[in-house]
Amino acid sequence: MRKTIIAGNWKMYKTITQAIELANGLKRELFVLDSQKIDIVICPAFTVLSEVAEVIADSNIQLGAQDVYWQQEGAFTGEISPVMIKDAGCQFVIIGHSERRQYFQETNESVNKKLKAAIKYGLTPIVCVGETLSERENAKTFEVLDDHIQNGLKDIDEENLLKIVIAYEPVWAIGTGRTATATQAEEAQKYIRVLLGKMYNKNTADKIRIQYGGSVKPENIVELLKEPDVDGALVGGASLEVETFADIVKKSSEVKK
Ligand code: 13P
Repeated sequence: MRKTIIAGNWKMYKTITQAIELANGLKRELFVLDSQKIDIVICPAFTVLSEVAEVIADSNIQLGAQDVYWQQEGAFTGEISPVMIKDAGCQFVIIGHSERRQYFQETNESVNKKLKAAIKYGLTPIVCVGETLSERENAKTFEVLDDHIQNGLKDIDEENLLKIVIAYEPVWAIGTGRTATATQAEEAQKYIRVLLGKMYNKNTADKIRIQYGGSVKPENIVELLKEPDVDGALVGGASLEVETFADIVKKSSEVKK
């Protein structure tokens, strides 16, 4: 059985004061949940990681960063290394988010390097894949998933694959309020699992957690999670308020898989 994982991607929001307030609120709302049954992760901006780490230190909430560079250290102005991210208190890191692919020249090659570095330094990567609206409209969804998965995960062996979480985030559903239907999410996520089964083997593919991301809200989380290949969610906008994110996590914890 795959453990449900709900992660909040705070993107470029929250000052230090606001981040501490949000983290404190989530800790208060979510402490009743059993961390053996659900992984709760929040991914704030780099500038507030240490402060948020302190707030959630003795809680069932885990910390993730939103990106990472692949070198351990060096003259790479503006970049943040996996060692620094771990040192700030993170267990997770988002890699290859579509906003990074769209605005910051992220490619499958850089995703692959970041992924290997994250694993090497003991972080759990959340690798994002997914098609744009025009790719979907041109029936290219599966082609894009093939490309993102096969090239993003190039040379990752079976043992390391098991350390990865995949997030299916159709770009057209991000921040648009236009959620993929549960059927659309399941279709793509099942495709990813079958693909992983072909690349590795079915037994291993069955162990990999695949999240859905794109306009996830308290109103649609249950329907999405009921799908067999939807093992969690990567939440953007709705993770920025205590009430909505806590509601999503609580509802998720009640879905029988
Ligand atoms: P929204 O939930 O705001 O659509 O964002 C999804 C996302 O990009 C999470 O990484």
